[in-house]
Amino acid sequence: MTETAQHPLSAAPLTPPADSGAAARPWPQDRACPYHPPAGHLPAPEGRPLSRVTLFDGREVWFVTGHAEVRALLRDRRLSADRQHPDFPVTVPRLAEQAVRPLPLLGADDPLHNRQRRTLIPGFGLQRITALRPAIQQVVDDLLDRMLAAGPEADLVTAFALPVPSTVICSLLGVPYDDHEFFETHSRRLLVAETAAEAGESREELRAYFRRLLDRKREAPGDALLDTLLADPSGTLDREELVSMALLLLIAGHETTSNMISLGTYTLLRHPEQLAALRADPELMRGAVEELLRYLSIADSLVRVAVADVEVAGERIRAGEGVLLATPEANRDPASYPDPDTLDVRRSARHHVAFGYGIHQCLGQNLARAELDIAFSSLFARIPTLRLAVAPDEVSVKPGGTVQGLFALPVTW
Ligand code: HEM
Repeated sequence: MTETAQHPLSAAPLTPPADSGAAARPWPQDRACPYHPPAGHLPAPEGRPLSRVTLFDGREVWFVTGHAEVRALLRDRRLSADRQHPDFPVTVPRLAEQAVRPLPLLGADDPLHNRQRRTLIPGFGLQRITALRPAIQQVVDDLLDRMLAAGPEADLVTAFALPVPSTVICSLLGVPYDDHEFFETHSRRLLVAETAAEAGESREELRAYFRRLLDRKREAPGDALLDTLLADPSGTLDREELVSMALLLLIAGHETTSNMISLGTYTLLRHPEQLAALRADPELMRGAVEELLRYLSIADSLVRVAVADVEVAGERIRAGEGVLLATPEANRDPASYPDPDTLDVRRSARHHVAFGYGIHQCLGQNLARAELDIAFSSLFARIPTLRLAVAPDEVSVKPGGTVQGLFALPVTW
């Protein structure tokens, strides 16, 4: 081992993993407060950016909490996102079946990843999403009309946070929104199932649904994204790849943004001085969306496997070892964000890693930003008296190891 070699980010000499500090902590852990990372995940007191955690199956993997280190490693081609790599960590039981078939984009390395991503970029570019803003505004306005008419109480998740992104992604992809109960139920089951069998069942239901949908589209093409992909001018996407891609886009397109809307609303209601600042100056909203993305970091950790040895911050990650890039903790790194545990809608939260970083950085980030901006602005403008209908600690928080959010958010006005 070249003990003197150093990663550019490293200030300390390399040490083997066996010396890497305190006993590995269990991962995942549930959030005690919906908007703070679990206390048990925070970096060790001596502030080392890399530590070790133990997964449910007893396997130890690296846990990277330093903001600079997370960014460097997400750019590093020596870490692979390939779920079918024999050493890819299974972080929770439901993902044990993830190696059964290839996961496009998220679970692919270049050059395959690059080929798949290029087919989708035009559908998610800034220009295309800016043109969609009036349609998103219309969806938001209609849902608020309905919620207000049925009020003065609602579960914000079912009345607003879920249908906003779900309606938008359906129309973008060309999926009938009338089927939303079916795919929302299975998407949620896929993300929070306790067993691999349960997750696999929902995955297969959704795949069968998309096969049928694509067959119908072949008969009667429309002009939405899935229709364009089906026509596939490059001729490189096969049918099962397209089914996988459609499934990923549908789930990624509604589950994440929905969790951000409900958790973001809860967080702003719990920080009335920040909400008052936003109401006084609506121009602050775009920055507030970035700060909420940083503060809430709903994607929990991003998972990789090292395919070659990597030295970082005085530690050596060996080929075959699993790595969790701890985005919530990295986004609270005081070296990058002073006073990181304070929500401050005026701060510059630039370079946060809530959308990841590097080749897999969120493809839907322009869409997510537009939806969050419009959803929060309209919700708080239309309902100035919005408040929680339950005690703050009575809301049900999603378990650790999945996209973080709330199962329900009872509100009144
Ligand atoms: C606030 C909402 C969202 C958050 C926090 C979020 C977060 C993320 C993160 C952290 C990644 C990187 C995963 C990794 O590196 O392993 C990612 C990738 C991705 N996201 Fe999002 N996302 C959001 C909304 C969306 C939306 C609306 C879509 C639209 C379809 C979307 C589609 C994707 C896709 C396709 C990828 C894979 C990109 C690739 O591998 O090249 N996301 N997202």
